[in-house]
Amino acid sequence: MSSSERYTALKGMKDIMPPEIHIWQMVERAARDVFASYGLMEIRPPIAEATSLFTRSIGENTDIVEKEMYTFTDKGGRSISLRPEGTASVVRCYVEHHLHTLPAPQKYFYSGPMFRYERPQSGRQRQFYQIGAEAFGSAGPAIDAEIISMLMRFLQKIGLEGLSFQINSIGCRNCRPAYKEALLAFFSGSLDGLCPDCSRRYLQNPLRILDCKVPRCRELRKGAPKITDYLCKDCGEHFDGLLKLLEVLGVSHTVEPDMVRGLDYYTKTIFEVTSNSLGSQNAVAAGGRYDALVKEFGGPDTPAIGFAVGMERIIELLKTAGAPVPVPDVFFAYIGMQAFRESLIIADRLRSAGFWVELAEASSSLKVQMRRADRHSAKYVLILGDDELSSGSIKWKRLADSAQGEIPIPDIEVFLRERL
Ligand code: HAM
Repeated sequence: MSSSERYTALKGMKDIMPPEIHIWQMVERAARDVFASYGLMEIRPPIAEATSLFTRSIGENTDIVEKEMYTFTDKGGRSISLRPEGTASVVRCYVEHHLHTLPAPQKYFYSGPMFRYERPQSGRQRQFYQIGAEAFGSAGPAIDAEIISMLMRFLQKIGLEGLSFQINSIGCRNCRPAYKEALLAFFSGSLDGLCPDCSRRYLQNPLRILDCKVPRCRELRKGAPKITDYLCKDCGEHFDGLLKLLEVLGVSHTVEPDMVRGLDYYTKTIFEVTSNSLGSQNAVAAGGRYDALVKEFGGPDTPAIGFAVGMERIIELLKTAGAPVPVPDVFFAYIGMQAFRESLIIADRLRSAGFWVELAEASSSLKVQMRRADRHSAKYVLILGDDELSSGSIKWKRLADSAQGEIPIPDIEVFLRERL
């Protein structure tokens, strides 16, 4: 590299900066608040794990594992991968820390970057952020309904509208084999017409043919058997029970019998929230049950359900409304060295009370200081000079309407608190 070459962020990875960061922070705060009212606790697993944790849970024949993992060999010769999603790590945590010994259901959330080596496009990045939630130890549909309504409450709280919620059941290990047989029989006559990916899926995981975006595969799957006609008694009752609870909770939904998910660990309930204001990458959140995964990872038989929200897609939707730009509460202007020293003390007091205070540059004229206050769009300017010092008071000016006055120095904090 020549010494003048400039670095830029890697393809598919972005700097998240002001003013957009303020929307991120608002969304993260809302998630924390809403999730806390449902008893979720935060966990922070590392962003890298043993590669096999992902291949075994997400599935060897999925796009994520086959094409998209950031996998490398570390200096100890181990195969490590950057996490492409959060569920596998949370399940590992659950098993490793014996969380099944705590009262069920155990409910957790996480947020942070995920990595998938996909072709970047609007709403699809190689490093993207998720906020996810997982609940362990409850088998009945009530927890599905709770987790789903929590997701919808969160999306509502951040002000997202016009979203649709689609739901399906993909059955369990008991009922899926018969459904797979039915699908194999259905597609056996049209194998030549399927795209190369689907020809492979036919052998490895025929359910994924239902998810293919290639037009001729879409055409060929018209009239394919529906999983909902093959659910066993337990899965059927679970699904019906869940749909009733969603009605009770006022969560409007569409049953989408063709919906499948790109990860293999799902059982029974799967769901997606989509927006028609986004392009082809229109899923803002997705999730489902994974009742077999804890056991698969060496834990006790533990049903579980969760979801993850795609932060970039949510932010994209919220950005159209514009990002709020925070401004200083106070800009401190002063005349003379003694006033400067006194300003430092007062500013320190106000900062420790939680106000955002900017101090003017030492030695600039009052005119220059006032111009800077304007550029900062500070809410209040406080002005301290010799006259004020001798009278023990301070001048204030509100920039929005140029209102001004004088206030005793000890009363500033109360004055600001009442007005900001
Ligand atoms: P997922 O459907 O792979 O599920 O991802 C969830 C959400 O993450 C998607 O709906 C989308 O909003 C966002 N997302 C995925 N890939 C990208 C990308 N390349 N760029 C931007 N956003 C993306 C999971 O990850 C599961 N772990 C969800 C889950 C949790 N299921 C149960 N518990």
